[in-house]
Amino acid sequence: MPTLIVLGTQWGDEGKGKIIDYLAEQADYIVRYQGGNNAGHTLVYKNKLFVLHLIPSGIFYPKKCCLLANGVVIDPMSLKEEIIFLSKNKVLVKNRFFIGMQAHILLPYHKIIDNIFENNNDYKIGTTKKGIGPCYYDKVKRIGIRVIDYLEDNIFEDLITKNLIEKEFILKKNRINTKALKKEMIVNHKILSKFIKPFVTDVSIMIEKAIKKDKKILFEGAQGALLDLDFGTYPYVTSSNTIAGGVCTSVGIGPTKINNVLGVAKAYTTRVGEGPFTVELFDKIGEILRIKGEEYGATTKRPRRCGWFDVVVVRYSVRINNIKCLVLTKLDCMQGIDVIKICVAYRYKNNIYKEFPASRTVQKYAVPVYEEMPGFKDKLEGITNFEKLPINARRYIKRLIYLIGVPIKLISVGKKRKEIIKLDNIKWF
Ligand code: GDP
Ligand code: IMO
Ligand code: MG
Repeated sequence: MPTLIVLGTQWGDEGKGKIIDYLAEQADYIVRYQGGNNAGHTLVYKNKLFVLHLIPSGIFYPKKCCLLANGVVIDPMSLKEEIIFLSKNKVLVKNRFFIGMQAHILLPYHKIIDNIFENNNDYKIGTTKKGIGPCYYDKVKRIGIRVIDYLEDNIFEDLITKNLIEKEFILKKNRINTKALKKEMIVNHKILSKFIKPFVTDVSIMIEKAIKKDKKILFEGAQGALLDLDFGTYPYVTSSNTIAGGVCTSVGIGPTKINNVLGVAKAYTTRVGEGPFTVELFDKIGEILRIKGEEYGATTKRPRRCGWFDVVVVRYSVRINNIKCLVLTKLDCMQGIDVIKICVAYRYKNNIYKEFPASRTVQKYAVPVYEEMPGFKDKLEGITNFEKLPINARRYIKRLIYLIGVPIKLISVGKKRKEIIKLDNIKWF
């Protein structure tokens, strides 16, 4: 079955956008399975840098079909803006971009509530303030509004009226004018429901048909495994299942329909927002990585926290996603560092942890156990062959493969599609 999941193995921003854009050439369908416009997936198309938030990173190939499956939360305003932005850049989505009718709609009150919590130090976790958590919260509370509900003229006002009552306490306490908010949502609903209607489909049926025709399907993950609601560094996580298991519940296909899982890992580690980060660097090296890697959030522009490669994290990701092979990105950003460290375990109160610990106390206070390797001085620009990499870069890759226990099949050494090294000729689908 030609199906492949591509997901982040760390805390997001691993370079999934670039890799999905690269692999999408070989796919027929590219399907986003969770998250919303909290994502920022960057890729270079015709020498221009694009950041996509909702639309899958396969959209730049004119013949590919791109979908947002039911597990995604969709802010229709943000979607409209993204579609218009793409069309201004001559990337047309008509008849090849679809959204699941059971996906949930993200509304202005979700964003307002996200902001209220983020502005309160007792609850702040450093979200993107896009309303993602509150939207998933409504879904779980069974008061959410799905795409199919949004398209029904007569029920929208009733649904938001009830939801505004449910949220009245927090909104009033924060001096939000709920009447004006409701009015604005009703006006926008008329425009936006018409706008999204042509894109709405039954994703499960569409993908089932595609699988029967042996079409190649790439499932695009957003965020990263350590931000997964169940397996991430809870409570400093996003509100969806970022891991491979999320594909089945989002798309409406059984697990036996998934053939392959590819993990994207950055050659070092970054994280945006609050939460434990054992390998975080507060020194000059952290600053060098931030500058070389241009580590500033693609969605919120916040500086990303930077640290060494964490084998404990990536090995954990490999296990919980059944990752069969990895792509290593941004190796070029490590050029010029004299000594490279790799975190191989955590230490807390004289205990050594080789498996990622679930305890929030251990996650917070554990210190890294490092191995050291000599760095590489030569620039990696233009290198497309593994053997042409500096010897110490090759040693670093080989050591990571050994420690993680799965092969690295692609190495990314720049932002552009072509800046990639294939370690063998792999059939992805
Ligand atoms: P995503 O959320 O996983 O798609 O990653 P982001 O787009 O948020 O962040 C990755 C950043 O690294 C973007 O600015 C990319 O253009 C850039 N990038 C991706 N791969 C490489 C690489 O191999 N080398 C360099 N220098 N930049 C890369
Ligand atoms: P991509 O797809 C990195 C982080 C936020 C915060 C936590 C919860 O580009 O890799 P949320 O707004 O989701 O409720 O925030 O998750 N976060 C990301 N970090 N990359 C992302 O997406 C992220 N999306 C959310 O910074 O810590
Ligand atoms: Mg990103």
